[in-house]
Amino acid sequence: MKIFMKVGLVKVKEKIMKTKITELFEIEHPIIQGGMHHVGFAELAAAVSNAGGLGTITGLTQGTPEKLANEIARCKEMTDKPFAVNLTFLPSLTPPDYPGLIKEIIDAGVPVVETAGRNPAEYLPALKEAGIKVIHKCTSVRHSLKAQDIGCDAVSVDGFECGGHPGEDDIPNFILLPRAADELEIPFVASGGMADGRSLVGAMALGAEGMNMGTRFIATQDAPVHQNVKEAIVNASELDTRLVMRSLRNTERVLNNAAVERLMEKEKALGADLKFEDIIDEVAGVYPKIMHEGTMEAGAWSCGMVAGLVNDIPTVQDLIDGIMSQADEIINSRLKNF
Ligand SMILES: Cc1cc2nc3c(=O)[nH]c(=O)nc-3n(C[C@H](O)[C@H](O)[C@H](O)COP(=O)(O)O)c2cc1C
Repeated sequence: MKIFMKVGLVKVKEKIMKTKITELFEIEHPIIQGGMHHVGFAELAAAVSNAGGLGTITGLTQGTPEKLANEIARCKEMTDKPFAVNLTFLPSLTPPDYPGLIKEIIDAGVPVVETAGRNPAEYLPALKEAGIKVIHKCTSVRHSLKAQDIGCDAVSVDGFECGGHPGEDDIPNFILLPRAADELEIPFVASGGMADGRSLVGAMALGAEGMNMGTRFIATQDAPVHQNVKEAIVNASELDTRLVMRSLRNTERVLNNAAVERLMEKEKALGADLKFEDIIDEVAGVYPKIMHEGTMEAGAWSCGMVAGLVNDIPTVQDLIDGIMSQADEIINSRLKNF
């Protein structure tokens, strides 16, 4: 894993971990930043890609195809490395202009798309024809196999620990990852609960070809969100997330706050009769208030249990360098001694 590169007369030590994921996406380190609503802007995506990982712009956050095109152009000004766009397919009465968003992604030559939510089969031919690599985020082995069947290039396997939508099966990554490894032929990354070099080595040991992180990347200097959000993650422990909206089969792992407690009271009171309209104040349109204004009690926002492992707010470059050094130390020192 260690090689020495000669730069002029100076020997530079570089840590290289080549995996099927680094080869597929033509990146240096097997570390991906997952799409995050109102977090995945050009600043974060470019910082992750510049540090050797794969950064991701969140497509739906941008609002319109034109705005997505602008964000992609901004990202290209900040990095010449590959980056991805996330397309989250949600059930909606007024669906976003997915064909329009996809056209901008293709026209801009974005090399990778991270899909999430429902089955992306309808949009796959257009993406594949344009030579775009597709990684689909799945919370179960059966959905991962489906993604493989329909022609996705890779899967991001999101365990029960993850921030955002962990699905309805509640299988943690210690089971889900080796199960995925037993069944899948396409490469996958571990997602949910990943924070450091220990996570990366553990994920690789369980069969993954890299890791995807959400929550950890929010608490970085490069994440374009309010300082209060970063501090809330640093101050949270692994006990501070809650699962909401289970009865709507739209389970989301969020950081506990006054709005989440209100939401859970309504869930308890209404039981199976709960409708989306009952909790609209706690969940609809709250992301801009939280992420950009720092009004932390404005509503429910996604956050992973991994908050318990986040104790600092480094630059993305330092975070990724630290992960690779720690992984190297674990593999080449700690594990070698056994
Ligand atoms: C604040 C936040 C917003 C997110 N928004 C999205 C989203 O819009 N689309 C998506 O596919 N995943 C979204 N995710 C999930 C992440 O991409 C990633 O899969 C997840 O955070 C991994 O778990 P971790 O937080 O334990 O690292 C979000 C996660 C967080 C924390």
